[in-house]
This record gives sequence, C-alpha cells and structure tokens, in this order.
Amino acid sequence: MIDQLYRKAILTVAERDSVEKLLRARAWPVAQRFVAGEDIPSAVQAMKDLQADGISSNMDLLGEFIESAEDCTRFADNVLGVVEAMQGAGITPYVSIKLSSVGQGKDEDGQDLGLKNARRIITKAKEYGGFVCLDMEDHPRVDQTLAQLRTLIGEFGHGHVGTVLQSYLYRSLKDREGLDDLKPNLRFVKGAYLEPESVAYPDKADVDANYRRLVYQHLKSGAYTNVATHDERLIEDVKRFVLAHGIGKDGFEFQLLYGIRRDLQKQLVKDGYRVRVYLPYGRDWYPYFSRRIAERPSNALFVLQGMFKG
Ligand code: FDA
Repeated sequence: MIDQLYRKAILTVAERDSVEKLLRARAWPVAQRFVAGEDIPSAVQAMKDLQADGISSNMDLLGEFIESAEDCTRFADNVLGVVEAMQGAGITPYVSIKLSSVGQGKDEDGQDLGLKNARRIITKAKEYGGFVCLDMEDHPRVDQTLAQLRTLIGEFGHGHVGTVLQSYLYRSLKDREGLDDLKPNLRFVKGAYLEPESVAYPDKADVDANYRRLVYQHLKSGAYTNVATHDERLIEDVKRFVLAHGIGKDGFEFQLLYGIRRDLQKQLVKDGYRVRVYLPYGRDWYPYFSRRIAERPSNALFVLQGMFKG
C-alpha cells in the first residue's frame, strides 16, 4: 500500500508542467543511468557494451503521447531506423514498441494506424530474423493490444512478435490463458502505470503472487517466457521452478532494465541464463524516467542529489 502511495505521489508530481520543465532541464545527467543516450550511435554503443558481457538487448526508442497521425508514422519510420541500426551492427534486431506511439486508436483509410505501422516494423524485423515486442501500456489499451497481437501473430508467427502481461491487473491470468492457442512469446512484468483498485491489485504481495502464477503457467505451457523483473526472490523462485519441471534454459530468459541491477544481470549470465536488457534511448526520455523514479524512493534521492551537485 505504501509502495502504491509513493508511486502515485511521484507520478502525480512528475506530471506537473513546472516539475517536468525543471527535470527536463536539469536531470539529464542522472537520467543517463536509465537511458542509453539521445541518439542511435549512443544506443548502439550501449548495446555493444552489453553484448561484450554476454547480455542481449531489446531496443526501445522513447516516445509517448504522440498526437498526430503524421508524427506516429514518422515515429514508426524512426523505429525502422533502429531495426536497421541493429542489423547494421551485426545484431539480430529485437525492439519494443508502444502501439500508442505508432498510432493505435487512430483510423487511416479504415484501418488502425497502430496496426498498420506495427506491420511495417515487424515485416522489416522478420526479414532480418528479428523480433518485435508490443509493450503493454495502461489498462484501457489492453483489449486492443491483445486483439492486435492475435492478428499480428496470425500474419507473422509467434517467433517475430509478442507482448507483455502485467501481474498487477486482475485480468492478466485470464488474458494469458486466452492466448494459449497462439503459443505466444510473452514478457511478464509487475506493471508500471498508475492504475485504480477497480482493475489492479493495490497490495504488492498480491502483485508478486500473481506474477508467480503467470510465469509458472506460461512456462508450463511450453511457450517462450520472458521473466522481466529485478526482484531477486522471484528470480530465485523461477530458477527453482524450471529445475523442478525440467524446463531448459533455452525456454525462457530473464529481462532487466538498462542501468538497474547490473550486478545481477552479469551474475545471471555467469550462471548460464539468457539475459536481455531493455535499452531505451531517445530525446523523449522524461515519461520513462519518471516511471523508474516512481518505482523506488532511493531513485528520487539519487535524482535530487545529482541535480543539486552543480
Ligand atoms: P519491484 O518493483 O518489486 O522491485 C524489486 C527490486 O528491484 C527492488 O527492491 C530493487 O532492488 C529493484 N528495482 C526495481 N525497480 C527499480 C528501479 N527503478 N531502480 C532501481 N532498482 C529497482 N511495465 C509495464 O507496465 N509495461 C511494460 O511493457 C514493461 N516492460 C518492462 C520490460 C522489462 C525488461 C522490465 C524489467 C520491466 C518492464 N516494465 C514494464 C516495468 C515493470 O512493470 C516494473 O515497474 C519494474 O520492472 C519494477 O518492478 P520489479 O519487477 O523489478 O519489482
């Protein structure tokens, strides 16, 4: 409950124009702990550094609340640039997109623009043997995102597109079961948005318990599972679960966010697990950065110290 209150307070304050202005102007030096840079060359360098440690990357071009259809399509073009950049660097493209950023909910010639732009990105990624993950956003978007995932898996196969389920939502267990026929590649997270009690567990213990249920069920289903958390207790439990159920290390991977628990990322690689880091970059880093601050009080202190160091 305290976690929930802290998150609510931080996200509410972060949305104020004056706070955003101040942080955008002064917090970039500290934001760089979580964001790999503002341009493609910095992101590619970060990706290569991770690769040297045996860690794969999941590139995320930052951009949210993009308003016009033209801007959404331009954003999708930029994501295509990321796919090309990964391929150019000799790395199989793996990117995440937020469907809202590429036009979900906007009609173009009788088609959803988000779906149209996602198709363009997945087509290119598939050409290079790559993968596109549809990030999960706030709860009003879940229905449409899952319906679009179904369409896209039908067109491209589950080896090239997947999505995310959030354990804080009451509905996620049912959603997972409803996708079983697709054998989807799913990433499981706790959930990063401010959601009302009518749709999401307010208590962390329930969110964690639901996380275990979701991951265990998906692992047992035989579909590829992305265990995306920094929670060491959960990670240890998953390690025990796969051992007990004879699930090989090629049936799942651990995913962590860039700049968070780098020690753990390296240890997991050392122990022979697949590890992928979510690597965000781009000029529009502020909303992503606020969510990371909202996850952990010590991050807020870290930002304040960094801003006033001079
Ligand atoms: P929890 O919050 O319980 O933290 C466990 C421990 O991890 C903490 O005690 C701390 O040690 C460490 N930790 C967690 N967050 C930290 C931070 N910000 N800074 C420093 N340490 C931190 N969400 C979403 O809604 N949609 C999505 O598509 C995604 N995608 C996604 C991809 C990947 C690869 C990851 C790892 C996470 C996401 N998320 C997400 C975010 C997710 O929902 C969640 O908010 C964060 O992962 C934090 O939750 P944990 O599972 O780490 O547990």
